[in-house]
Amino acid sequence: MLDIFLIETTMSKQNNINLDTLPQEVKDYIRHLEQVRSDFVANVSHELRTPLTVIRGYLETLINHKNPDKKILNRIFIQMYQQSLRMADIIEDLLLLAHLESEDHTIDENKDVVVKDILQALCMDAKNISGEKKHKISLNADAGLFICGSESELRSLFSNLIVNAVKYTPAGGRINIDWRRDQNGYGHFSVTDTGIGISSEHIPRITERFYRVDKARSRERGGTGLGLAIVKHVLLRHDGKLQIESEIGKGSKFTCIFPAARISFT
Ligand SMILES: Nc1ncnc2c1ncn2[C@@H]1O[C@H](COP(=O)(O)OP(=O)(O)OP(=O)(O)O)[C@@H](O)[C@H]1O
Ligand SMILES: [Mg+2]
Repeated sequence: MLDIFLIETTMSKQNNINLDTLPQEVKDYIRHLEQVRSDFVANVSHELRTPLTVIRGYLETLINHKNPDKKILNRIFIQMYQQSLRMADIIEDLLLLAHLESEDHTIDENKDVVVKDILQALCMDAKNISGEKKHKISLNADAGLFICGSESELRSLFSNLIVNAVKYTPAGGRINIDWRRDQNGYGHFSVTDTGIGISSEHIPRITERFYRVDKARSRERGGTGLGLAIVKHVLLRHDGKLQIESEIGKGSKFTCIFPAARISFT
């Protein structure tokens, strides 16, 4: 017996809402959402196309050169490998953001996260990333102070702020990472750098997805503009707040403030 399915390809009448019948604020909001959606698709496509174009260029070189030099081959493979890592990073960040932005704001795990242990490991990573730039990176963390929340999300938050400090601080600069409790029981995590700084007009938009102060310079450093959007969402899910202080040419301080209800200590 042959089953025949007819797939509906046109929008049903109920879905076909006439925008003109809606109040102006609702119309404006729907248009805004549509703009956000199309900007997002354009940004994702653009960011993924860039490394893809580089990989395709190298592949074309390989196809056209019958017997390329071993040294050249090696350089090409390294470049292609790095671009593929870049694409994987972008996709990973997008998946993480989609998860964090989902309707359900509940955190997957709620345990007392030992912040100091995570920061120690991230501090070592930061020194590795800094490499030749030889930043002076210091960590000052209270070992007996914990945040109740998701360890993986908090690691991502700390990592994004620390990596930013390394990326946007010139060689030899100072980076201080702090974790402490204030007199009201709030937890303060901060990263202070002596980097390039951010001018005040950019700060209100800096946590938007794909927002970068200097697109060319940021992309050069491997930036997509998703890191601070992730930070914002992790904070939202942990009832925290983000405070940014910055001065062009002098440096920046990013502070995450966690409510006393999420903090425990020994
Ligand atoms: N510590 C900092 N000093 C100066 N500028 C910064 C600092 N942190 C962030 N910025 C600016 O804010 C922008 C957004 O930061 P964000 O972390 O969201 O993106 P990114 O670092 O460009 O890319 P990604 O984190 O996705 O790899 C950066 O492009 C940079 O212009
Ligand atoms: Mg970043």
